[in-house]
Amino acid sequence: MTMRIYVPRDAAAVACGADELAAALKVAAIARKLDIEIIRNGSRGMAWLDPLVELVTPEGRIGYGPAEPEDADSLIAAFAGDGAHKLRVGKPEDQPFLKRQTRLTFARVGIVDPRDLDDYKAHGGLQGLEKAIAIGPAAIVDEVTKSGLRGRGGAGFPTGIKWKTVADAAGPQKYIVCNADEGDSGTFADRMLMEGDPFCLIEGMAIAGVATGATKGYVYIRSEYPHAIAAMNAAIDKARRANVLGKGILGSAHDFDMETRTGAGAYVCGEETSLLESLEGKRGTVRAKPPLPAHKGLFGKPTVINNVLSLATVPIILAQGAEHYRDFGMGRSRGTMPIQLAGNLNYGGLFETAFGITLGELVDDIGGGCFTGRPVRAVQVGGPLGAYFPRELFDTPFDYEAFAAKDGLIGHGGIVVFDDTVDMRRQARFAMEFCAIESCGKCTPCRIGAIRGKETIEKIIAGKDVARNIAIVEDLCQTMKFGSLCALGGFTPYPVLSAIRHFPEDFHGTPQRIAAE
Ligand SMILES: Cc1cc2nc3c(=O)[nH]c(=O)nc-3n(C[C@H](O)[C@H](O)[C@H](O)COP(=O)(O)O)c2cc1C
Ligand code: SF4
Repeated sequence: MTMRIYVPRDAAAVACGADELAAALKVAAIARKLDIEIIRNGSRGMAWLDPLVELVTPEGRIGYGPAEPEDADSLIAAFAGDGAHKLRVGKPEDQPFLKRQTRLTFARVGIVDPRDLDDYKAHGGLQGLEKAIAIGPAAIVDEVTKSGLRGRGGAGFPTGIKWKTVADAAGPQKYIVCNADEGDSGTFADRMLMEGDPFCLIEGMAIAGVATGATKGYVYIRSEYPHAIAAMNAAIDKARRANVLGKGILGSAHDFDMETRTGAGAYVCGEETSLLESLEGKRGTVRAKPPLPAHKGLFGKPTVINNVLSLATVPIILAQGAEHYRDFGMGRSRGTMPIQLAGNLNYGGLFETAFGITLGELVDDIGGGCFTGRPVRAVQVGGPLGAYFPRELFDTPFDYEAFAAKDGLIGHGGIVVFDDTVDMRRQARFAMEFCAIESCGKCTPCRIGAIRGKETIEKIIAGKDVARNIAIVEDLCQTMKFGSLCALGGFTPYPVLSAIRHFPEDFHGTPQRIAAE
């Protein structure tokens, strides 16, 4: 009987030796004259267990991790015997970290073979697109609107309204652009989805095409994601051969095809108008709005721009119905959010759950506190433009409005945890420095303000005229917040001001020298 084994091909697992492990498992099996099939799946999202090897047994898939190439021989011996091994963790879905999740967008990630369209179909794939074709454009937009889905890229704009604007726009040529630039610190959900379930993103984009009348799509992927680019290209090729893409998709009257494009490593190219400039082959600078991309986007044509997660959530909404999705969540934050737990944590990874879970539950219960064993002091939520939350705000529910009410944002769902050794002045300085480096230079509050902000915080760190310089930084933040053209300059004040407000003891404490850089 063939021994079937799953070894993730997710980039994080590959970085921990998954390719070498897969090769070593094969060699070990051949040496024992065992027939072996290795399937390269996505990651289950439990970072501390990767690479997680899974053996197919009559009882289901049994996980062993984190496995190294050196473990291959003993693992194969265990698989051929009673399965006992020091790395055995049992069924992955029984791990508390996975058991507590509600996986809708990530339902197939880690389970299916991302290069196998039949496996995708066997796990519910293409049902959303089939339904979309059957009900037609207006009803698709209606379903997406009713589901309450909001953009997962950061701004949380209702996806259905964006699609309706493009559907209503006149013009023979429209585009669907997927934003896979994923520049936020501590985020990796887009990458995991593209590597672990690329057909899902293709299906979501094809549904967007049918809904709006767009016939061409582009996935703009950051160059730092070569594995995701390869996974998407392989899946696009297979989807084309199976008529999921191309002329008359799935035998319908709708044409839709798509390609990947590689970014060049600028954070600001994740901003939608800057991304469009880059896609058009120009330097990535922000465009003034209006016109909105929905009216005049890529090459001046009506364009839907959505994040990977927004688009990859659409197939399940169509397949299961808007009510099923909107039943999860709280307030105006409907459905689930793939939250990314990163930084100084014991249990980092991908945790998809309904909106409403508190920050404290995520950090303390699910993340298991700091890896260093020290107390959690600060948590940055929503990437480099997100606020720092102190423990006193850990009762904040994960919800767009609740975070905004605390002068924060949930952004793309990234959570970066710091222990009590963090110096919040340096974090504030870093926010300004990041903005200065990544600024596209189009507007003055951001281009000049970020540099002045960094210099002024350096004076605070050096203990120079602290109270006056804090007042200058606070004043500068108001100028950046209200005077910047886009959210890079406009939101950099959030990490800076939250650090000053919630951690005043760091700013008024003993002067320290800035480490030589
Ligand atoms: C500086 C900056 C960087 C951004 N980076 C990303 C990104 O990497 N990925 C993303 O989806 N959205 C990013 N956004 C948000 C996009 O401008 C846009 O709102 C989003 O792609 C729309 O898709 P959604 O409605 O599905 O969220 C960024 C915005 C700004 C201001
Ligand atoms: S805020 Fe910064 S990144 Fe945005 S347009 Fe102005 S200079 Fe460019």
